[in-house]
Amino acid sequence: MKELYLGIDVGTTGVKVLAIDEEGAVAAESTREYPLYVPQPGWAEQNPEDWYNATCQAVADVLKSGVKAGQIKGVGLTGQMHGSVFLDRNGRVIREAILWCDQRTAAECKQINETVGEKKLIELVSNPALAGFTAPKILWLKNNEPDNYEQVAKVLLPKDYISWRLTGTFATDVSDASGMLLLDVVNRRWSSEMLAALDIPRSWLAEVFESPDVVGKINSTGAAETGLLEGTIVVAGAGDNAAGAVGNGIIKPGMATVSLGTSGVIFTPSETPAVDQEGRLHTFCHAVPGQWHLMGVTMAAGGSLRWYRDTFAGEERSVAELTGQDAYELISEEAAQVAPGSEGLLFLPYLSGERTPHADPYARGVFIGLNLKHSKAHLARAVMEGVAFSLKDTLEIMTALGIKLDDLRVTGGGGRSSVWRQIMADVFAAELNVMENSNGPAYGAAVLGAVGAGRWNSVEEAAAAACSRQRMEKVKPNEQNIKHYHKMYNIYVDTYPAIKSIFRRLSEI
Ligand code: XUL
Repeated sequence: MKELYLGIDVGTTGVKVLAIDEEGAVAAESTREYPLYVPQPGWAEQNPEDWYNATCQAVADVLKSGVKAGQIKGVGLTGQMHGSVFLDRNGRVIREAILWCDQRTAAECKQINETVGEKKLIELVSNPALAGFTAPKILWLKNNEPDNYEQVAKVLLPKDYISWRLTGTFATDVSDASGMLLLDVVNRRWSSEMLAALDIPRSWLAEVFESPDVVGKINSTGAAETGLLEGTIVVAGAGDNAAGAVGNGIIKPGMATVSLGTSGVIFTPSETPAVDQEGRLHTFCHAVPGQWHLMGVTMAAGGSLRWYRDTFAGEERSVAELTGQDAYELISEEAAQVAPGSEGLLFLPYLSGERTPHADPYARGVFIGLNLKHSKAHLARAVMEGVAFSLKDTLEIMTALGIKLDDLRVTGGGGRSSVWRQIMADVFAAELNVMENSNGPAYGAAVLGAVGAGRWNSVEEAAAAACSRQRMEKVKPNEQNIKHYHKMYNIYVDTYPAIKSIFRRLSEI
């Protein structure tokens, strides 16, 4: 019987559980969804119990599909980054988790900047205070829900909460912990100076490990609730972007993932903790021990197209239901009928505020340039183009920092649209590699589980071996479109500063 390794990805729309074999081939997978709550505009919360129940169901699905629990030799976890799970001293969840895309902490970011100093912050934790990060959420709880704050005994990241439910161990990994704004990213350990400055007890945080390190074993409750065998080893895992990078073989400088999930991310490894002094890019630890990475984040990438689908594409959704097609395919086909540049219609994808390059929780989505000729299909294409322009912002910063990228690998659900891939190649003016079966974070987590279980000696070896099975399709940019998009991008770059103050005024209404 083949040995297998399990990856669990606690995502924003659902959990994905996937088993790979000793060669890295996918043996089984299951996805279970859960709701996202928006109690106020700009807020985003989920119930950690929903994550756990969905995880148990998805693991059970995998075990029902012919995989035997005894075959699983290692488990790796990954998930949405930055979210805060607040536990009391009895391990009870105090309130809903506040997610990475929640923008409520502008005042707390300001408070952190004033308490620590913006320059010192970069020195201590290599990153600026951004609304989605975890430390501002802890201060928000203190400032706004003091009764809840009084009860806090632990603050865990989403995947680490699930790991604790399965093993009884409080553990995290360097890549995910980097997004808490409490990790000394250069030295890969908690920053005692930062904890002291924000008055956060060290005991609230989990132990930090490198991603492939074994942190615990499935305990009796975890086994009873998932069907996994008690004693199966669990590794620290990684934040979803780092795990996705491992799954796609992004393990050395010069390579990058262009990921189109709910968020859009450009992620490139670095051999040094090369900080962007202006704080526009995140500097985090990589899941590869001894490596770091730089990344830029578009908050609503696939999220923007999902919003378009749910708001404007009722017809496409009905047709898709009747014909068994995917509504996104129909939307892509419509967008393909529109000329590059959407006949002068521009979309700013700031539906959930924006991180890179603006770090502005007040930013909002914008269609600009509408005229009577524009149809729904133009809106769809403009959404895809706007997301590509936003990702180009990250590439431009990387280029300005002297980073040369020669292998851009497209991953994530949005990468399945050939129209969107071509738009990105044209906007970036760069050739893209599209993985035949884009390996998501769950795959990378399974690879980390396999390294922990001893199947491979290192993350580099594992990632290279797993990816060698993959065929890559090249998408070449079109010279004519490059020129056209260059002009549009220049207008895109000028639009945000021109209307920035409007966002702030709108947020006050
Ligand atoms: C990264 C980030 C998002 C989430 C999405 O900093 O906030 O990519 O990890 O799950």
